[in-house]
Amino acid sequence: MPDGTQNRQTNTLEPFWMPFTANRQFKAAPRMLVSAKDMHYTDDQGRQILDGTAGMWCSNAGHGRARITEAIKTSAETLDFAPTFQWGHPTAFDLSSRLTSLFSGDLDYVFFGNSGSEAVDTALKIALGYHQARGDGRRTRLIGRERGYHGVGIGGTSVGGISNNRKQFGTLLPAVDHLPHTHNLAEMAFSHGQPAWGAHLADDLERIIALHDASTIAAVIVEPVAGSTGVLVPPKGYLEKLRSICDTHGILLIFDEVITGFGRLGDPFAADYFGVVPDMMTLAKGLTNATVPMSAIAARAPIYDAFMQGPPNMIELFHGYTYSAHPLACAAGLATLDVFAEDDLFARGKALSPKWEAALHGLKGPPNVIDIRNLGMMGAVEVSARDGAPTAQAFDIYLKCYEKGLLVRQTGDIIALSPPLIVTEEQIDEMISILGEAILETD
Ligand SMILES: Cc1ncc(COP(=O)(O)O)c(C=O)c1O
Repeated sequence: MPDGTQNRQTNTLEPFWMPFTANRQFKAAPRMLVSAKDMHYTDDQGRQILDGTAGMWCSNAGHGRARITEAIKTSAETLDFAPTFQWGHPTAFDLSSRLTSLFSGDLDYVFFGNSGSEAVDTALKIALGYHQARGDGRRTRLIGRERGYHGVGIGGTSVGGISNNRKQFGTLLPAVDHLPHTHNLAEMAFSHGQPAWGAHLADDLERIIALHDASTIAAVIVEPVAGSTGVLVPPKGYLEKLRSICDTHGILLIFDEVITGFGRLGDPFAADYFGVVPDMMTLAKGLTNATVPMSAIAARAPIYDAFMQGPPNMIELFHGYTYSAHPLACAAGLATLDVFAEDDLFARGKALSPKWEAALHGLKGPPNVIDIRNLGMMGAVEVSARDGAPTAQAFDIYLKCYEKGLLVRQTGDIIALSPPLIVTEEQIDEMISILGEAILETD
């Protein structure tokens, strides 16, 4: 069994500038995960930690899946790297075909990156290039949403709407506007699944269009269910309205499915769950079960076609990454799809969702619990902010959960949950019981 304690003795923690982390606090009291298998992490004290968040919304098939590990190993031994600029390798094409056969509508093309952030910035660039290719190059404005998270590239940060993620970085991209977020506790607290209230919030897109004129707007990007901001479930009819307004005005609709893709809602993608086909989808995380970094952009056929002009010897899209469709990632992606099929994980997520919903809503009661929300195998518990110390209460709950052997995710005053889809009903009960205790102890 690997034991991180030696590392802690011999290595200083200082040089690693940790991402999205309170570095000084962490380094004073580190939480080290040293191995993972199925539903559990093991920490450097040898404790088993039940994974309530699929790592970071990403290890959807659970940890240490032998089939995926073997595929990565075989790929590393046979083809450690191959360029995909003017070259190809078979697994890149295999994975593209397998993925597009899963996508709905005419989402027939796939472009690869390495992270959700790259997928988002790629999709935004494709949207801009698409309009230009059609001779409609005035369409350069991008519309995101308040409280949206679209990664940390300059495009994703600009269309993102979490203020802490933006305010350190100046003005960002200029031609960007934001829809209002859909979070309103007075109207939707403790909704089971999609809130009944709030579809009208999509009409704000008409206001933004009236302000800037549709002829200047390239794309709207939203997470179908906003994840990182604390699981904001779209009101009934909201996404359908966005689709219809975008259609009316020739604006591309991008679903950022970095979290919702690969079974999180009990369907392959949120687009399937909601029956709304976007013009592009951004995917990452669950694509390789998070074993090798990889992301993908699914694009509808007319978008690809718009670029396929001019002399056939000319590059059509001046964009790509050295590691686009890296052989190890492609092998991991194919093996992940095999595991999903073997374990019937989409169906499993769907079948477990009612149990998940009931268990989660069982946490209602303590006065500091001000909302519980869920959709598919996502969930969140929002607690009241302590006077003068926003986020402190949820952080204490998160720490208590960790002490008690449960990994949860904290964002603001919200605890978010998204267990691997292999979770059992007993493990759901265990998660909810630990979280319930932690909430009561921090009341
Ligand atoms: C919806 C969404 N988009 C983009 C990203 C960015 O992905 P990455 O951290 O892989 O760059 C995330 C990450 O959590 C996400 O949730």
